Amino acid sequence: MRAFPADWKVICVIFWCLNLTGRVFGHGVNENLVFRVLKPSHIAYDFTIRPAKNFGGIFNFFYNGIQLVAADPIEACGEIQNAEETRGAVALVKRGECSFLSKSIVADRAGALMLIIFDSDEKNDYRFIDMIDDDTKRSTSIPVAFMQGRDGNMLEHYLMEHKGPIEIAIPVNTTGIPYSHLHRPPWTLW
Ligand SMILES: *[C@@H]1O[C@H](CO)[C@@H](O)[C@H](O)[C@H]1NC(C)=O
Repeated sequence: MRAFPADWKVICVIFWCLNLTGRVFGHGVNENLVFRVLKPSHIAYDFTIRPAKNFGGIFNFFYNGIQLVAADPIEACGEIQNAEETRGAVALVKRGECSFLSKSIVADRAGALMLIIFDSDEKNDYRFIDMIDDDTKRSTSIPVAFMQGRDGNMLEHYLMEHKGPIEIAIPVNTTGIPYSHLHRPPWTLW
């Protein structure tokens, strides 16, 4: 038992590290999460997203192999026209023209299980927005996250040009995975 205090310290340090990585990698509320493109393989990268700050549901369900579908219209301020595609999928929507909360309500109504809103600034590959509601007292239970413009526009262009499905895992459980082991898209500096 003589070694106990030292061991105890080591254990504490390990717990501290786990806790820290948990926070860095997004298992705390309002921290970043990662989703992974599974198919097609040539864009199989890990993307960082940030859950909305004060509205929407929690990303507490892990989907492995769910479709990412661009909403039509992409801003999702009116009714989504391709609801048969967004139903049961993760909707990809562009920032602008109406509030984040309005988009979330529209996507929820169109049957999407999660919503990713990407920045309209295509050059944005460094800044995350903490999305907040619009003071209209409305609510939605769909989990909603923000994505940087560079990443979002690349994915949107892919969906528009190839018309093929993108299959993702969301969120990726990054506990115990070093940040450097994530497969980040080549256009993002991180
Ligand atoms: C995430 O991964 C860790 C380490 O493999 C595991 O202990 C934990 O239960 C996982 N969490 C979920 C929600 O699957």
